[in-house]
Amino acid sequence: MTVLQKVYIKNYGCQMNVYDGQKMADLLKPHGYCITESPDDADVAILNTCHIREKAEHKVFSDLGRLNVLKKDRIAAEARDMLIAVGGCVGQAEGAEITRQAPYVDMVFGPQSYHRLPEMLAQLEHKVKGKRRRIVNTEFPVESKFDFLPVPDETQVSAFLSIQEGCDKFCHFCVVPYTRGSEYSRPALQIIKEAKHLASIGAKEITLLGQNVNGYHGEGIDGKEWSLGRLLYDLAEIDGLKRIRYTTSHPLDMHDDLYNAHRDIDKLMPFLHLPVQSGSNKILNAMNRKHTADEYLKIIERLRNARSEIAFSSDFIVGYPGESDQDHKETIALVERVGFIQAYSFKYSPRTGTPASALLTQVPENVKSDRLAELQNSLNTLQLAFNETMVGKIVEVLFDRQGKAPQQIIGKTPYMQSVTLDGDCSLFGNFLMVKINNGYNNSLAGELI
Ligand code: SAH
Ligand code: SF4
Ligand code: F3S
Repeated sequence: MTVLQKVYIKNYGCQMNVYDGQKMADLLKPHGYCITESPDDADVAILNTCHIREKAEHKVFSDLGRLNVLKKDRIAAEARDMLIAVGGCVGQAEGAEITRQAPYVDMVFGPQSYHRLPEMLAQLEHKVKGKRRRIVNTEFPVESKFDFLPVPDETQVSAFLSIQEGCDKFCHFCVVPYTRGSEYSRPALQIIKEAKHLASIGAKEITLLGQNVNGYHGEGIDGKEWSLGRLLYDLAEIDGLKRIRYTTSHPLDMHDDLYNAHRDIDKLMPFLHLPVQSGSNKILNAMNRKHTADEYLKIIERLRNARSEIAFSSDFIVGYPGESDQDHKETIALVERVGFIQAYSFKYSPRTGTPASALLTQVPENVKSDRLAELQNSLNTLQLAFNETMVGKIVEVLFDRQGKAPQQIIGKTPYMQSVTLDGDCSLFGNFLMVKINNGYNNSLAGELI
């Protein structure tokens, strides 16, 4: 009997990495690997990394240090090695530099070449006796990885499906165009097949993923180019799927048929993550976002006209080079205007190789911290106010997770609010009507009706 090799995969960063991490597991399973939740007993440890901000990158290097200690101890105690691999966006961006800084790393690869993982691992195992071999694979391959990914045999109730990758927008602060490469849209047929398969094995909700998911322009099943809006109509026909979401969107890629999809498709949830980054035209221009605050507000208005109950979340960067107090005030004003119900906000983090990092007008750290606190205060107030409006209402919740307490489960409303409830895992995968009794900062609590 062959002994299964244990693989530990840790995901950092965005949902696309979560999707990729699941696919890595799916790819390795038929080749004699099983997944382990801890690095302690792993034969292979893969860090599926994020490069977006400096903090994310530091985390990878400190985790690598810990893995190295584990690897050394293991070799000393059991003469058994652990292969350490760095995948994802730090792998792509730093390449061979990682093996210089962390020479114990056996393999580096990027987000577009992980479909070759089984082959790369096999190559490593055939190492010449006594001689260490290392693989660095950060070329963008000509083939699309999606053509090589296996069909999964299990899914979450709420599943991710990558439909678009990469970015050609080159915002002046951002590393993604360099780490994920240029824009690519999967053919519609491939996406629809994957969505049908996910529904057939138990997915009830699907989130379409892409760095600029609304910039999707793939080959349609009629041979014409399809937009995201067009694709959504076909996905909505799939029986088992009850909820559809998509993320992340760029304001420049809001096209007519996407507004129509929001108007026509009930399964499309009335909640949209639409990053704006700043409320100041001066800063938006400096960031190379290519739209104004006013244009953003018009998009919001048009979406509200298409679907009156729609609500929004966003991403913000404070302390972009050259941002003044006035610019920051304009961001707060835009936040209040839109009334976001949820948001992510970050201090600007200079990234080597991006145009903004070379600007001489960097904002001092303490100013960034003050602005972030002020912005988050506004955002939290709005989020709590929205959560409180749910009290007394009856909402449909899809339960899929165990809560902290033993008899507690967690689910999501159409607006992605977490709802906790007394119940057990037999309720997972069901859409249940819940009466909301309490609205907190980050969650709701209720009872089944
Ligand atoms: N494609 C998406 C964003 C992907 S990155 C879009 O265009 O909106 C996710 C978020 O990380 C961004 O929206 C931005 O708010 C933040 N981010 C990206 N680079 C950053 C940096 N250098 N410093 C701080 N935040 C950053
Ligand atoms: Fe980064 Fe801008 Fe592309 Fe979004 S649109 S991934 S922020 S470069
Ligand atoms: Fe991070 Fe790469 Fe996603 S840099 S945010 S993991 S695209």
